Amino acid sequence: MTSNLHFLYLSRQDVEKVALDLPTIIDLLEKAFREKGEGKVELPPKLGIHTLPNAFIHAMPAYIPSLYAAGVKWVSGYPDNPKKGLPYISGLLILNDEETGLPYAVMDCTWITAYRTGAASALSAKYLARPDSKTLGILGCGVQGRTHTEAMATLFPIERVYAYDILPQAQEKFLAEMRQKFPTIEFIGVTNSQAAVTQSDIVVTAGPILKNPTPTIEKDWLQPGAFASAVDYDSYWKGEALAQIDKFTTDDLAQMEYYRTIGYFKETPQPYADLGEIVAGKKAARQSATERTMAMNLGLALDDIAVAPTIFQRAKEMGLGVELPL
Ligand SMILES: NC(=O)c1ccc[n+]([C@@H]2O[C@H](COP(=O)([O-])OP(=O)(O)OC[C@H]3O[C@@H](n4cnc5c(N)ncnc54)[C@H](O)[C@@H]3O)[C@@H](O)[C@H]2O)c1
Repeated sequence: MTSNLHFLYLSRQDVEKVALDLPTIIDLLEKAFREKGEGKVELPPKLGIHTLPNAFIHAMPAYIPSLYAAGVKWVSGYPDNPKKGLPYISGLLILNDEETGLPYAVMDCTWITAYRTGAASALSAKYLARPDSKTLGILGCGVQGRTHTEAMATLFPIERVYAYDILPQAQEKFLAEMRQKFPTIEFIGVTNSQAAVTQSDIVVTAGPILKNPTPTIEKDWLQPGAFASAVDYDSYWKGEALAQIDKFTTDDLAQMEYYRTIGYFKETPQPYADLGEIVAGKKAARQSATERTMAMNLGLALDDIAVAPTIFQRAKEMGLGVELPL
């Protein structure tokens, strides 16, 4: 049987060529989280299979009516892959037409995963950090360290970045790249996490996620008035340090509860709100210049599916990708 139905396939390189700008990504996420806060999105909990310890393959579907965005990300994280010369994160994202259900695009999800995570942290920071935040601490100078630097510099008048990585060569590479990309920002390498946390208005921790963490960040290191984004969940933060946060938030309360049932977040407090509630105005954002605030966003299908249709549209305009028959 032949069919005249087609979908567009976008490789990792195609998606990278679209290079959707961060202000657009943050704006799309803000719309999606507002709608989530109003209870209008469909976002079932992540399903996963686990072929190796510490590795995952997750199915992440979402439907965001106002963005006409419906689809699923099928993404894997294999911590030993870099040793084999393979990427840690890989996977595909499928977009479906909301009227017919037909798939109209399949795209590599590596770029989207890197950028939407930085954008979600920046969106949390928009509501929870001080607007005059000038210093940024980056702990873990990898993919997320890079996209978070770019995302925070998009929304805040960042003048100085304190960068720390357990591997000095990873830190050096990050510093060299970032100095070139952001010539007006001063980048300082530090030799321990304390120096990065105590000196920063915005702190991002982006090392490996560990189910049984050995955290290093102590109570009082995060300064009054500072905001932190824990991209690596509770891996870096001691229970006493988390207990000190005035407004501790996540991106989805149900998702965090689910992780607790499988053994994560043993010393993590109950969130004050999720990001959707804050963006929709149901819970207050930052209320004083001295509050300590934090986002521990777990990463939602909502982030990916909010952004992917715009990547598809731009790719079409740019003539990228390959049409394949269904
Ligand atoms: N929450 C989310 O939505 C979300 C989304 C994507 C990735 N992540 C997580 O973000 C983290 C970073 O991802 P990535 O793609 O940037 O990984 P990456 O491998 O590119 O970078 C991680 C960096 O952390 C460094 N590091 C390791 N242990 C450290 C320590 N104890 N102190 C300081 N630095 C240390 C490594 O040397 C490396 O440079 C991972 O844990 C990943 O699972 C979270």
